[in-house]
Amino acid sequence: MKGVKERIEIVEGDITKQKVDAIVNAANTSLLGGGGVDGAIHRAAGPELLEECKKIGGCPTGEARVTKGYRLPAKWVIHTVGPVWRGGNANEDELLASCYRNSLKAAKEIGAKTVAFPSISTGAYRFPIDRASEIALKETAKFLENDDFIEKVIFVCFGEQALNIYKETFKRLFGD
Ligand code: APR
Repeated sequence: MKGVKERIEIVEGDITKQKVDAIVNAANTSLLGGGGVDGAIHRAAGPELLEECKKIGGCPTGEARVTKGYRLPAKWVIHTVGPVWRGGNANEDELLASCYRNSLKAAKEIGAKTVAFPSISTGAYRFPIDRASEIALKETAKFLENDDFIEKVIFVCFGEQALNIYKETFKRLFGD
């Protein structure tokens, strides 16, 4: 099995277009859709996604719930709810880390070998993206160090600024 570094990829693009087994959605606790990446995923997946989400009945912050991907190229959507940034003293770091950990755990449970993440909580939830990128990459590396099932984790950055931040953080953590 490849090392951790070789199994992490950082790209710029639209997560709804990713041809992976599972994409992760930055949802809210209701799981009833929203704006941002949540809105994009629901639009691309079609109305059956919301129907399935309604049956789940919500998701606490930091946890993950799985649905089918419907019209998306991805077979599954892993919905996770990131923390709203409140200044950094409300356990935001740990809650964000648990989003990545629980999403990867869920991916393994459904047999998804390739997983794409958006930059959770860094939009409407205002989590500083440089800090979030470090948590995302560290938590994913920690998971992959103890797992040889997941083959590829792709961080899909929406825009060049986010891409540069994730690439810088990756370089700082893992070297060139
Ligand atoms: N593909 C990849 N990334 C995207 C896409 C897309 N199509 N659209 C937006 N993003 C990026 C944003 O640029 C940001 O970097 O996803 C990241 C997360 O931003 P949000 O979607 O605003 O998610 P978040 O900050 O976690 O806030 C969640 O917003 O949409 C509502 O229902 C959602 O209430 C929840 C809240």
